[in-house]
Amino acid sequence: MKFFIDTANLDQIREAMDLGILDGVTTNPSLMAKEGIRGEVNIRKHYVDICNIVDGDVSAEVIATDFEGMIREGQALAALHPQIVVKVPVIKEGIKAIKYLSSQGIKTNCTLVFSAGQALLAAKAGATYVSPFIGRLDDISTDGVELVAQIVDIYRYYDLKTQVLAASIRHTMHIIQCAEVGADVVTCPLNPILGLLKHPLTDIGLEKFLADHNKK
Ligand code: G3P
Repeated sequence: MKFFIDTANLDQIREAMDLGILDGVTTNPSLMAKEGIRGEVNIRKHYVDICNIVDGDVSAEVIATDFEGMIREGQALAALHPQIVVKVPVIKEGIKAIKYLSSQGIKTNCTLVFSAGQALLAAKAGATYVSPFIGRLDDISTDGVELVAQIVDIYRYYDLKTQVLAASIRHTMHIIQCAEVGADVVTCPLNPILGLLKHPLTDIGLEKFLADHNKK
């Protein structure tokens, strides 16, 4: 399973990269705004800065919601850097845009996915990634991980090549559960990734090893 970090914060991206386990980055307009990155020129420069830190795919989201606008933006984003993946919402125009961009050899990430039907259309259109938002489903008393499992099953059944990128991950158990059901990628903030390391028995054990080593 690949680990992506879901942030536009360069320090957090560097920290995850330093860990040696980072496979890519996802962003969205809210995450860019959170970092105070505004305006087309600054936003595009920030995507290039992210690409220069990481080795893997970097998702950059279109703002347009019409087909022509999405194509225009998608092509411009893809031209910024070979690592850019164009993130497109799963609406009617978005599916058409994914089909077109895929036919041009541009990688896509179909976002805001909340149902297996949406994921099926994204894969049919040739999306590189599909992003089910599991935390936001949990927020409305619906099992987000269950959706990830359902999409994985459908894709495997038909041998669809779109990778299941579990997004809107809020805590470490989401990561473990996504791994259990066969997600190809998880994307989450730095904290849940670091949270995977935490275990009191590790801390107690290490403390004892060091104390024993230092005994006179
Ligand atoms: O990748 C999608 C993600 O950023 C959404 O997360 O926590 O806003 O639901 P969240």
